[in-house]
This record gives sequence, C-alpha cells and structure tokens, in this order.
Amino acid sequence: MDGNGRWAKQHGEERIVGHMNGVRGVREALTGATEIGVRYLTLYAFSTENWNRPQPEVNALMDLLVRTVVNELDELHQNAVRLRAIGDLESLPASCRETLNDAIARTAGNDRITLTLALSYSARWELVQAAQRIGQAVKEGRIDPKDINEQAFEAQLATHGMPDPELLIRTSGEQRISNFLLWQIAYAELWFTPTLWPDFRKDHLFQAVLDYQNRERRFGLISEQVTPS
Ligand code: FPP
Repeated sequence: MDGNGRWAKQHGEERIVGHMNGVRGVREALTGATEIGVRYLTLYAFSTENWNRPQPEVNALMDLLVRTVVNELDELHQNAVRLRAIGDLESLPASCRETLNDAIARTAGNDRITLTLALSYSARWELVQAAQRIGQAVKEGRIDPKDINEQAFEAQLATHGMPDPELLIRTSGEQRISNFLLWQIAYAELWFTPTLWPDFRKDHLFQAVLDYQNRERRFGLISEQVTPS
C-alpha cells in the first residue's frame, strides 16, 4: 500500500493525512476482493523498516491501525471476514496487539475471505525465524536435516496454511518488492500501477485481476504443457 506520503504532499497535508485516506484504499480493496470471490487478501501495512520513520508518524500509524480495527470490526464480522496478522507482533505497542488479537479471535470462525495484515513484517525476518525454528527442531532431534524440504520449511512460515499469492499489486509507481513475502511470491504475477494508495479503488483491483487472467502462468514449464490444445 504505497504512496500515502506522496498523496499527502500533493494535497498539502501532513503525511498522516495520507495514511488516514489510505483506509479508503483498504476498504475498496477488501470489498472489491470479496465481491469477485478472492479468498485471501494480504496487505503490507507496516514493515520492520518502518519503525525507523520519525516517531510521531510511527505513533500516529499505530493509533490509526487500532482505531480502524475497532471501527471496522462489526462490519468485518458481518461480512464473514477472517482477520489475521503476520509479523513480529510482539514489537507492537501492547494496546495495538491486544486490539488486534481480540479482533482475530472474534473473526476466527469466518470463512468468506481471509484478510491478513502484515505488521512489523519483513520477509527476511520471517525466513530467519523459520530457520531458527528448524535449527531448534534439529537440535532437539525432532527433525533430521535430510528431512528439511520445502514443505517442512513452509510449515515454519507466518503464512503457514495460506496458499501462495497468485497476484501481487504495488501502488505508487515503485517497481520493487521491498521485503514482502519473498518465499511465497516465487510464482506470483506482479502488477504495478502509478496510482497512489489513497486513490486505489475497486476498479484498479478489477483491472489487475483482468490483466492477471490474460497472463500465462507456466511455473517453469513450456506453453504447450500448461495450455491444453
Ligand atoms: C506506505 O506509504 C504506507 C504505509 C507505511 C502505511 C499503510 C497504512 C494504511 C493504508 C493505513 C490503514 C491500514 C490498515 C490496515 C487499517 P508511504 O508512507 O511509504 O508513502 P510514500 O512512499 O509516498 O511516502
């Protein structure tokens, strides 16, 4: 969800106003995804590196997150949205963590769409965590090193149990991954738009999905193998 800061600058506002307007983008992405039957939507809301932003911006973002979850919880629940979070949640302020955990528990039985918030998340952090857990399991004799395979590794990721993303959307014209789901996006289709996140609407999502539908996903095979003649 990139471009909140630039949106604010263009509108002569403080950066946090960009984040506040970014909530509209979240709402549009979620309702649009639900309407077309997307089962998993994962939003990169706060990276490990974002902690290094000026403290007032970090505080305001955490406040906004808590307020948004509180304000939207009833509607999320009514629409059968299951909320999840991935990342170093221990590093979040206690109030933020508690609100989030309550919302996650309340929506745990929903199954229309899973909305995962990546918070204090970075893919390298996640991969190192997974390696540490596997190392510990080896040390305790619970796994033999020769049994460490892709499945065993995937089981230690924060996203365990979720399918790999089919489509990754990045807004604001930047064309990079920025430490997001590096393992999981091995075969994801990438879609970039110059639109700043606060201006992101359902139609952008629908356009991304239409483009995705015209791509040929070969997973390393040749065209004739994946397209039945
Ligand atoms: C990146 O834009 C955006 C963020 C770091 C925060 C995203 C947060 C929201 C959209 C608020 C609502 C979120 C939830 C899940 C309730 P940037 O600040 O890097 O923009 P810039 O690159 O233009 O400076």
